[in-house]
Amino acid sequence: MPSQPTLPMFSAGRHLLSVSQFDRDGLELLFDMADVVAPIAERRSVCTVLDGAVLGSLFFEPSTRTRLSFESAFLRLGGEVTTTTGFTFSSMAKGESIQDTSRVVSGYSDVLVVRHPDEGSVAEFAAASTVPVLNAGDGAGEHPSQALLDSYTLTRELDARGRSLDGATIAVVGDLKYGRTVHSLIKLLSVNDGITFRLFSPPSLGLPDSVAEHAHQHGNTIVECRSVLEAVAEADVVYATRVQRERMTEELHSQVRGNLLNRELLEQAGVAQDIIIMHPLPRDSRHDAYDLSSDVDGLPGLAIFKQTDNGLKVRMAMFLIALGCSADSVRATLKQRPWRADIDWELG
Ligand code: NCD
Repeated sequence: MPSQPTLPMFSAGRHLLSVSQFDRDGLELLFDMADVVAPIAERRSVCTVLDGAVLGSLFFEPSTRTRLSFESAFLRLGGEVTTTTGFTFSSMAKGESIQDTSRVVSGYSDVLVVRHPDEGSVAEFAAASTVPVLNAGDGAGEHPSQALLDSYTLTRELDARGRSLDGATIAVVGDLKYGRTVHSLIKLLSVNDGITFRLFSPPSLGLPDSVAEHAHQHGNTIVECRSVLEAVAEADVVYATRVQRERMTEELHSQVRGNLLNRELLEQAGVAQDIIIMHPLPRDSRHDAYDLSSDVDGLPGLAIFKQTDNGLKVRMAMFLIALGCSADSVRATLKQRPWRADIDWELG
């Protein structure tokens, strides 16, 4: 992974390109703001704090939850969203440069969210933009918003069990080479103390040295394991990730088949009833896909849909900070909603 220039801490009017823009105080601010907007994300209240603001949402790589959660977050804060997906429907298909596209769309928007298949490309976008750019994933590089919502979920899930993220043991399994969510998460957790990462990946899909080095330099421990069983056996949390088929050759992909993690394995390791189970999603549910099996879905520690729900709150908080809104300005525009949005609708 190319070394990144030192970026300023994330705050009002700044781009969000990398998890390196957060220290412990910055994270606390973001997480507190995510708690403030929780009633809006959970559809108990509505709010108009971003009335009149426009988001430019540019996704040049496939996405379901990242795009929809960024866009829903902006809409639920009272803003408006404009969007373009894929290269085919954008002027990049006519040969327009990142710089020109960025300058143009930043003239239409108050903040941009950008996903692009090339590492470093979102930073190029940001350099030409006149408004804050939030990185929604740049190739195999970083995915800061995912790492932030993962860290929020980890903190809250461990808190609920009377434990702390400091000193926790986290098994990280799957495609650790191309899985950008794992790169960003391991780097972000450098702000915590005494974390042990127990890694397992197929031999060709190991964690880049630069990420492992980053963890070491910040006092966290990396343990390479020979099997998933060994990785999860002593862990508080398991974070599994999909094989990034689109970033590798067919030949390499054909070597990674079978089962990564399922209920039987967690039972064998003696952790099925306790371990917190995380995954950035999507899970590859095709036969032989080498991913997290859906047979873990009934286990008490399953947190994968808590991650997606928390993503909305954390992304709302990112917009509020980038656009200089205080928690009080959110509270001042909170309203009761006249429509019903019960989580427990009796559908049928
Ligand atoms: C991830 C991504 O796009 O990097 N998905 C996501 O944003 N939640 C993980 C993946 O595609 O495997």
